Amino acid sequence: MEEKLHQLKNDFIAKLSQAKTAEEARNFEIEFLGRKGKLTAILRSIAGLPDADRPKAGQMANTIKLEMELAMKDRMDAMEKSSDTAGIDATLPGIIPQTGHLHLVTQAIREINTIFEKIGFYTVSYPEVEWDWYAFESLNMPKEHPARDEWETFFIDKLPVGPKGLRILTPHTSSGQVREMEKKQFPIRMINISKCYRRQIDVSHVPMFHQFEGLMIDKGVNITHLKGVLDYFAKSFFGPNRVARIRPYHFQFTEPSFEVDISCGVCLGKGCNLCKEGWLELGGAGMVHPNVLKAGKIDPKKYSGFAFGWGVERTCMMKAGLQLPDIRILYQNDLRFLQQF
Ligand code: DAH
Repeated sequence: MEEKLHQLKNDFIAKLSQAKTAEEARNFEIEFLGRKGKLTAILRSIAGLPDADRPKAGQMANTIKLEMELAMKDRMDAMEKSSDTAGIDATLPGIIPQTGHLHLVTQAIREINTIFEKIGFYTVSYPEVEWDWYAFESLNMPKEHPARDEWETFFIDKLPVGPKGLRILTPHTSSGQVREMEKKQFPIRMINISKCYRRQIDVSHVPMFHQFEGLMIDKGVNITHLKGVLDYFAKSFFGPNRVARIRPYHFQFTEPSFEVDISCGVCLGKGCNLCKEGWLELGGAGMVHPNVLKAGKIDPKKYSGFAFGWGVERTCMMKAGLQLPDIRILYQNDLRFLQQF
């Protein structure tokens, strides 16, 4: 019996190795392992063996069966592999698969985060659906204050009014200032980057855009620290020969308040056809208003700080020297535009 089984296996392997197609191999499989095949016949004959011989013969037949099945699988795998590579010229140039890349605004967000991380700032991302309190009231803009008008806010009047007022889509990242103060971890060196929303759409506005907000609070923080951070950012993001300047302005939540400009990359501050005056406007900044510190439960006699808030879209367009005739193209998913960055 043992010899018979080994003979059968060897015959099968010999035949398989001669098979030229998968179909031929499958026919041999039927001949040997099929329901009416040669192995099945042997297995049946085991029933007629004396009781003492049966278990051993059964065990051996099963092992041989398994080996034959494995041989079949190996042969099929080998045939498949050789058909895959047949006729391929490995010296031909490859086909580069199409890969995407990050949107230019996402690229800018990552770069901004990295620049500020190097001087100890950490990134947070506060809610886009925000309470009136954090976006306005706590920022020294009480209800009915006319300064609020500038922010063209979307109000979510379907949600109930809570202790912090109505829910809104945050129109600026300054809403993260008091949220960060509530953590009570000093020094505060926050960069809050998030989406913002305003009810404005035209060639220079999109209703959804991004801002990043810097906030630094500690004992003894003053304007020179702000100016140092602004210059550091101007050089790191726009280039080593650029500088920042601050101009007096008014914001409700800072005192004093400034507009921040970056020296023009073409004329470096002298004035040219591109910039006219030598400077390009980046956004707002200032020393945190004592009322805002109080809203964040921080004692303005002990602590002081500065804040700044700029649009990511504007900042990255300034860097690329882009003068888009219609800013909405940033979000129209037009690959002819996006693939340039
Ligand atoms: N949140 C202001 C805006 O959206 C920008 C801003 C101005 C942010 C002055 C600040 C700041 O932190 O100090 O227009």
